[in-house]
Amino acid sequence: MTTTTPTSTQAAVQPNAEAPVSFPPSFLWGSATAAYQVEGAWNDDGRGPSIWDTFSKTPGKVFSGHTGDVACNHYHRYREDVALMKRLGLKVYRFSVSWSRVMPDGINVNEAGLHFYSDLVDELLEAGIIPWLTQYHWDLPQALEDRGGWANRETAFAFERYAVVLHEALGDRVRHWTTLNEPWCSAFLGYANGHHAPGRTSPEDALAAAHHLLLGHGLAVRALRERDASLELGLTLNFTDYQPADPESAGDLDAARRLDGSFNRFFADAIFRGAYPQDVLKDQAGLWRAHLVQPGDLEIISAPIDVLGVNFYTGELLTGVDPQQAAEAAAAARATGAPNPNVGSEHVSSVRRGLPQTAMGWEVYPQALKDLLIRLHRDYTEAAGVALYVTENGAAYDDDADASGFVQDDERLDYIRRHLRAVHEAMEGGADIRGYFVWSLLDNFEWAFGYDKRFGIVRVDYETQQRTPKASAQWYAEVARTGVVG
Ligand code: NOJ
Repeated sequence: MTTTTPTSTQAAVQPNAEAPVSFPPSFLWGSATAAYQVEGAWNDDGRGPSIWDTFSKTPGKVFSGHTGDVACNHYHRYREDVALMKRLGLKVYRFSVSWSRVMPDGINVNEAGLHFYSDLVDELLEAGIIPWLTQYHWDLPQALEDRGGWANRETAFAFERYAVVLHEALGDRVRHWTTLNEPWCSAFLGYANGHHAPGRTSPEDALAAAHHLLLGHGLAVRALRERDASLELGLTLNFTDYQPADPESAGDLDAARRLDGSFNRFFADAIFRGAYPQDVLKDQAGLWRAHLVQPGDLEIISAPIDVLGVNFYTGELLTGVDPQQAAEAAAAARATGAPNPNVGSEHVSSVRRGLPQTAMGWEVYPQALKDLLIRLHRDYTEAAGVALYVTENGAAYDDDADASGFVQDDERLDYIRRHLRAVHEAMEGGADIRGYFVWSLLDNFEWAFGYDKRFGIVRVDYETQQRTPKASAQWYAEVARTGVVG
């Protein structure tokens, strides 16, 4: 069992802008979105409500009362969006399916909902773009939440049936299947600190949700594999590189261990080693419900996969703090709507490196992506013969559009450029990384931040729904065409 944190230099990486780097021709250049963030059409063609419909319509939960009712209207504009991706020369599109669109109550099938995804997949294939399907990106059917949501074991089995329904409709054309996106967020932001839907605040429910999400993943992998052994199956985890602020301080080392444990190793160990890390279980003592983990669960959860998707945004320095300070930090985070750095590990606080930050307040530190990818390869994926894909990376900035809607987003472009160079360095260091998906294709509904934060390489004017590629999109198109990053 690995309980150490990864080693990394504390200095910011300074990419050598003079030496362009080349990616192999087979490297997949893509972009990603998620159903609730872009589709809109919240009640078209029989779609049922999801927890995000309910949450976003609950006063005070989302910035300025924004909802995903319309979002980027991708549901009605998907042809235009696929054509845009084609113009940008992107080879793969990572999208998610809205469970409540295809199964409004989480159980019964809505054919019209399935048609949308079938048409989207056809449109992508027609354009020469590989469809990369994510089964779950946070939008549980409200009907299932009403029965206990992810804290209820039954939801894992409903998720398995949902996988089978999707496979019957799309399995002849979709080869790449991601079961879950960022289960940490679904479980802990959704059920522990309530910043995300369904807005519950029970650490015990959050752990139950985390376990049931992973169980659902394993059941879905098993069911999909049985139906077609040639599918590329996997899940996407969100990783943050946590380092001690003072590597000599026992408190800081322990802080980094705790957060690395609950955030990174909890999920990766379950998937690749079939066990939750002992030190994390010890940290969480008293929060695990009796009989939550049933015999055979971890065997299902650790069913072999082909792909590990890595979502990466930042690395953090941590320091141990006393419980009183931790409570104050948590209260301050609640007041501003910012993520609470203490989630799941109460005596930890984040320390700034003094680096430039994105509009989310996340420090830009590409070296951490390199370190992380090499570590994942070394500790988990190499032995399992699993390929790594960066399934999300990108940045929100306060874009300033000109009269035509164009944004000269040099900061975002530089963020992506430096992170791609870090990916390349990790590949040179031996990590088997096969593709990169920029987050996101479009400006979209950034969860609790609503439309206030823009991650797109393409600007969306929410009044007119006009799409305008930003400078970063033009640059990324060139990278996708040449495979070269300067
Ligand atoms: C990860 C999530 O998967 C995505 O939905 C979100 O918009 C980005 N991070 C940016 O916060």
